[in-house]
Amino acid sequence: MSEFLWVVYPYLCLMLLLVGMLTRYNYDQIGWTSKSSELLEKRLLRLGSLLFHWGIIFVFLGHVAGLLIPIGVYEALGVSEHLYHLTAMAMGGITGLMALAGLLVLLWRRLSVRRVLRNTAPADFVALGFLIATVALGLSMTLIYNVSHLPYEYRTTVGPWIRGVLLLHPDAALMAHVPLILQLHILTALALFAVSPFTRLVHIFSLPLAYLRRAPMQYRRRGAAAAYVEDRRDGGR
Ligand code: HEM
Repeated sequence: MSEFLWVVYPYLCLMLLLVGMLTRYNYDQIGWTSKSSELLEKRLLRLGSLLFHWGIIFVFLGHVAGLLIPIGVYEALGVSEHLYHLTAMAMGGITGLMALAGLLVLLWRRLSVRRVLRNTAPADFVALGFLIATVALGLSMTLIYNVSHLPYEYRTTVGPWIRGVLLLHPDAALMAHVPLILQLHILTALALFAVSPFTRLVHIFSLPLAYLRRAPMQYRRRGAAAAYVEDRRDGGR
């Protein structure tokens, strides 16, 4: 079972991610979009989307720092275990809570605003569901497990395991004694990777950075737009 969960399953999910993305890119480039619903509702979207995106960007950077950089580097730099975990818990806690709050606002918006709900596909709920589960489990580990127990040293277990997966020599034994919440977090995250090519999450892989610099787009109510045109027409008189 352990070999399946920590060796076979991760590659199954990563293969689905890769093959799913290549297939979708080949057959559905027009559908390769985040399907913006800004036109349908803006206030909750702005709050939820900003909280989620800023939160998750910093959570991602935290994962790179905690999992891809070996513990030896921190020791060589003189960063004590205590200082590392204190910083990781504070930064991870704040940014993880931002991401979770953002996701809950986005879910509420999708359920409560009728025209957003009408434009929601089942895949949108699948993406939100996996995101909420992954973030909530990660956050429970950081803020509940680590506070009620001693901070868990994932840099000697999960870290080397994930680097092994990426370098194609995973060692399932490293994951044997990892706390259940963290194991569930990782299994859910892998499932999220597997489903993402079939959802609006594909936009992550296009790195939409140009979006941040694009000219602003204005949406106006139809009535307000007509009044604006009228106003412009009368302006010269
Ligand atoms: C296979 C991939 C992943 C691994 C190995 C992994 C591993 C971890 C680890 C070791 C922690 C720290 C737990 C602690 O504080 O003791 C954590 C926390 C967390 N993870 Fe992940 N994670 C993965 C993917 C993801 C994904 C895809 C998301 C979001 C969609 C995510 C969101 C979070 C959040 C919000 C936290 C709590 C805040 C933090 O400590 O950064 N993780 N994860």
